[in-house]
Amino acid sequence: MNIYETIKKPILSLAPMEDVTDTLFRQVVSSIKRPDIFYTEFVNVEGLNSKGKEKVIHRLKYDISEKPIVAQLWGINPINFLEGAKLVKEMGFSGVDINMGCSVKKVTEKQAGSGLIKEDRGKVREIIEAVKEGADGLPVSVKTRLGWEEYEIEGWIKFLLEQNLDVLTIHGRTARGNNAVNANWEKISECVKLRNELGVSTLIFGNGDVKSLSQAKEFAKKYNVEGVMIGRAVINNPWLFSGREDVSQLERFQLLLKHLEIFQSESNGIKNFDSLKKFFKAYITEFDGATDVRKSLMGCKSVEEALELTSSLSSSMGF
Ligand SMILES: Cc1cc2nc3c(=O)[nH]c(=O)nc-3n(C[C@H](O)[C@H](O)[C@H](O)COP(=O)(O)O)c2cc1C
Repeated sequence: MNIYETIKKPILSLAPMEDVTDTLFRQVVSSIKRPDIFYTEFVNVEGLNSKGKEKVIHRLKYDISEKPIVAQLWGINPINFLEGAKLVKEMGFSGVDINMGCSVKKVTEKQAGSGLIKEDRGKVREIIEAVKEGADGLPVSVKTRLGWEEYEIEGWIKFLLEQNLDVLTIHGRTARGNNAVNANWEKISECVKLRNELGVSTLIFGNGDVKSLSQAKEFAKKYNVEGVMIGRAVINNPWLFSGREDVSQLERFQLLLKHLEIFQSESNGIKNFDSLKKFFKAYITEFDGATDVRKSLMGCKSVEEALELTSSLSSSMGF
């Protein structure tokens, strides 16, 4: 069963974010109110097909509570994409997403991620076909940007809409230049119009600068997309998908504790404690002395130290 057909629209998802949306954080989000779909961080198919496989395969780890979850792959070689998609299918994911949007230089200079926007279309088609073959019936999607430097709706987006994808997620920026500054949802809406004119059934998810659940729903309606993907706003607000704005300090402390405990039991030495620090602002905020407490947490060198500090703070604050 194609997962996208079974979920009520608009389909809301947590954007793939490297070193952010790992299984630990996805479980944290899931424990409050999960989005309709999770995505893994991007996983390099060259790495998956190399001797160094162990260094990247942990990115495909997920807990059953995260299902439905889609694996995101990036890379260069169609054969590696085919093998990567096969593995994704074997591991029980609900779909395969191809990253054609990452604008980080070390990715684009390999002609991967959004670097594919400038590549020969034959090569891009080969990658998509390889993933479809490996995915063997699982839905296949692409996440991309509106163009390299200029908006390329009639070129790049039209080409992708002709590839018979299940979903096309469009981050409303270009990879470079002035149009890379803010997400342009009017342009995402133009892509939907083009899709309708072409008469293809690919669902379009919009992405970029969405700040809240209500804004996601409003944008879905206003810009006619079937789904909205939200990224950075969830780092600062893991409660985002619940729509709640009245989260108490006690609940924030409890969620910090949960995040630390999941890290302690599941990170298996693969993740560095420092990778947790980006989340502390969401948990320790909006009370007198929050800045000092956060500073102490940031100074911790291990998860054990942070757990100890959090428990002593909870009792001194009367929780
Ligand atoms: C720290 C970080 C890591 C990211 N890693 C990925 C990734 O692995 N794959 C991907 O497709 N996009 C990645 N992105 C882009 C996001 O998925 C999303 O497209 C972008 O942040 C815009 O959405 P937002 O404004 O809701 O954050 C990353 C973004 C950030 C901030």
